[in-house]
Amino acid sequence: MVSRKSALIIGITGQDGSYLTELLLQKGYVVHGLIRRSSSFNTGRIDHLYQDDSIRDQGLFLHYGDLLDGSALQNLLLSTQPSEIYNLGAQSHVKVSFEIPEYTTDTVYMGTLRLLEACRQLDYDMKIYQASSSEMFGSSPPPQTELTVLRPRSPYGIAKVAAYHLTRLYRHAYQMHICNGILFNHESPRRGETFVTRKVCKAAARIKCGLQKKLILGNLDAVRDWGYAKEYVEAMWLMLQHLTPDDYVIATGEMHSVRELVQEAFTYVGLNWRDYVVESGLYKRPAEVDALRGNASKAARVLGWEPQTKFRQLVHLMVEAELEVLHSHG
Ligand code: NAP
Ligand code: GDD
Repeated sequence: MVSRKSALIIGITGQDGSYLTELLLQKGYVVHGLIRRSSSFNTGRIDHLYQDDSIRDQGLFLHYGDLLDGSALQNLLLSTQPSEIYNLGAQSHVKVSFEIPEYTTDTVYMGTLRLLEACRQLDYDMKIYQASSSEMFGSSPPPQTELTVLRPRSPYGIAKVAAYHLTRLYRHAYQMHICNGILFNHESPRRGETFVTRKVCKAAARIKCGLQKKLILGNLDAVRDWGYAKEYVEAMWLMLQHLTPDDYVIATGEMHSVRELVQEAFTYVGLNWRDYVVESGLYKRPAEVDALRGNASKAARVLGWEPQTKFRQLVHLMVEAELEVLHSHG
C-alpha cells in the first residue's frame, strides 16, 4: 500500500492556511494543523472542513501549539513526522507590527528559528515552505524580483527578512530542503477584515445596502500588486514538489493604488467613492512601502505557475462575496 503524504500547516486558521488545507486534502494528503488556544473560536475559516466527520477522522488533525513554544513544536513534529511543513504562522499585519514590534519579531523571526531548530533535530527527510513576503522589498522600487535588494520599512518586514536569511542559511549549512515563497499581497473573501482590500470591499457592499455611511482609510496613494490567495497556495505546493529547494517571487505583475481599489469596488456597486471615503491619519503608518509590483517569471518558467485572477476580477469577486453574505442574512 502506498502511504499518504502528510503535511503540517502552521497558520492553518489564517487565510492562506485555509485554502492550502483544502488544496492538500483534495490531493489526498493527511493534514495536521497547529492552532493556538484562544478564549473565542479561531477556526472559522476551516470549520467547514473540520465539521465534516469523514475529513476530520481521516484527513485533518488539529493540534494546540504556538510558534512561541519551541518544545511544543518539537513534540508535534516528533508525533506527526510530516513530509511537508508549511510555516504560514505570523502576526501578519504591517501597521500592527509598529505597535507590537517585539511580539511580531518573536512570532515571525524567533518562531521560524524555533521551527527550524526543531526540524533540524529530526532524522528524516522533510520539505519546508517559508512564507516570505514582498514587504521585505520595502523601499526598493518596482518591479521586484528574487534578486532585488531588501530594504524593509516595518518591524514586520524586518522580521520577515531575518527569517528569510535564516532559512537560506539552514538550507546551505545543514542541506535542509527549504523554499521561500516571496508572495506579493494576495486577497480573498477570507482575508482578515482589517486588511485594505477586505475592508474596502466589505464597506462598499454595506454602504450599498444602507448599513454603513462612511469608510475611513489611510494612505490612498500606496500601490500594490494584488492577487488571489486561492491561486497563491498552489504556488506554495508547487515549490515543495520541485526537486531542488529555491526561492520564488509570486505576483500578478499588475500594479494598482488603494485609490483605484476603492474606485473599482464602489463603481461595481454603482456608487461614487468620493461621496463616502474619508482619508485619515488614523490608518497611516510611521513608514510606508510605496509601491510593489512583482515579476514572477521565474515561477512561471520553473514551476509552471501563472496567476489567473487579476485585479478587477479579484475586486469583483470579493465585493460579490460580501453582498452574498449580506443578502443571506436578510
Ligand atoms: P493571516 O490570515 O493573518 O494568518 C496568520 C496565521 O498565523 C493564523 O492562523 C494565526 O493564528 C497564525 N499565528 C499567528 N501568531 C501565531 C503564533 N504565535 N503561533 C502560531 N500561529 C500563529 O495571514 P495570511 O494572509 O494567511 O498569510 C499567511 C502567511 O503568509 C503569513 O506568514 C504572512 O505573514 C505571509 N504573507 C502573507 C501575504 C498576504 O498578502 N496575505 C503576503 C506575503 C506573505 P490565529 O488564527 O490564531 O490568529
Ligand atoms: N490595512 C489598511 N487599512 N491599509 C490601508 C488603509 C486601511 O484603512 N488605508 C490605506 N491602506 C494602505 C496601507 O498603508 C498599505 O500601503 C496598503 O493599503 C495595503 O495595506 P494592507 O492591506 O494592510 O497590506 P500590506 O501591504 O501592509 O501587508 C500585506 O501584504 C504583505 C505583502 O506585501 C499583509 O498581508 C502582509 O502580511 C504581507 O506580508
